[in-house]
Amino acid sequence: MPKLTIRDANFRGKRVFVRVDYNVPLEEKDGQIFITDSTRIIETLPTLRLLVEQGAKSILAAHLGRPKGKREPSMSLRPVAKDLADRLGCTVAFVDDCIGEKVEKTVSIMKPGDVLLLENVRYYDEEEANDPGFAERLAKVGDLYINDAFGAAHRAHASTEGVPRVIAKRGGQCAAGLLMERELKFLGEELENPAQPFVVLLGGAKVSDKIEVIDRLLEKANSLLIGGAMAYTFRLAQGHKTGKSLVEPDKVEVAKAALAKAKQRGVKFLLPTDDVIAVPTPTDKLDKKGKPVIEYQNARVNSSLDCPDDAAGLDIGPATVKAYTEEILNAKTLLWNGPMGLFENKQFAEGTFALARAVAEATEKKGATSIIGGGDSVKAVNQAKLGNRVTFMSTGGGASLELLEGKVLPGVAALNDK
Ligand code: 3PG
Ligand code: MG
Repeated sequence: MPKLTIRDANFRGKRVFVRVDYNVPLEEKDGQIFITDSTRIIETLPTLRLLVEQGAKSILAAHLGRPKGKREPSMSLRPVAKDLADRLGCTVAFVDDCIGEKVEKTVSIMKPGDVLLLENVRYYDEEEANDPGFAERLAKVGDLYINDAFGAAHRAHASTEGVPRVIAKRGGQCAAGLLMERELKFLGEELENPAQPFVVLLGGAKVSDKIEVIDRLLEKANSLLIGGAMAYTFRLAQGHKTGKSLVEPDKVEVAKAALAKAKQRGVKFLLPTDDVIAVPTPTDKLDKKGKPVIEYQNARVNSSLDCPDDAAGLDIGPATVKAYTEEILNAKTLLWNGPMGLFENKQFAEGTFALARAVAEATEKKGATSIIGGGDSVKAVNQAKLGNRVTFMSTGGGASLELLEGKVLPGVAALNDK
């Protein structure tokens, strides 16, 4: 790795400012807050254990949600401190601020091996604004800087970009943590020259979200397997009827250009040949966002490339699953970003789950390297209970997408070169 990593630095007795991504899903039950998925906390444990063993004073900073500069109690990191302490097996102190006297005082009495978690950095507007003065105030308690917050590395915020600039200027080392190192290895270096065949599964709702990724992967992949609602914009581009499926008519030209590029480069570009369709029917019930809950009626397999006017396509069909599975089982490198259908609904989960099983099989029996690129695809693989049977699952959503697009992440750029 071209960037300094935690292995290259010496921390004994030093104050280490560690940026982590503890933006975890919370749920309130009977007035108590629960973390519903601690993956992001668990994934930082190797870095934190290393720091504790080396006798560092670890000062952890993170964001939770988007409080937009307000002290939003429901977005406090306090419950995270408790969860982290349980998992780390040591005390994790917590201060209800991230800058100022209270923080400085607490840090001044820390001993080597101690761990402290600061309150949500986004309680200050200056965090997202990457305000230089705020970065200075955060950096006051750090001699060195470690970034293990891959999921937030695409943000040029004070704690991800400003603080390492300040600390580096003072001559302090700024390095990637072990999680950051792994993420950059699998989503970056491994995909520079992937073992072939390199097969990419791309799904999700929108072509517009993925077009840059498609464009870049068309230069590297042997096959692209397309699913999710995104597939219908491609179908539209090919002149088919899409009924009530989610489509982006203004992205038809973009879809056509991708198809042409695939043809020109000799990349297999597979689109679903059948799907599971249903009639969407709004109900009186409202969801969390206040939108009517949609029920799906008359779900059935559709073997035509056209979708009836009253129906929407919601999953890939069995013939598509079979064709995609064959491709997957031939792969030496697999990258998956975006589910194949509305997997949160049992009726439309089979396509996504079947491919998840194929990816696990290719990994275990054929020795393929399988990389799951964050967000919904990780959720789907976990729901299929296959999380420990793939090579790597990213903790980043937007960050993994930007890295796959070939972008430089500001949180990585700010670290010292080796
Ligand atoms: C995430 O959950 O994707 C990261 O923590 C970044 O959060 P953000 O999208 O609110 O910047
Ligand atoms: Mg987000």
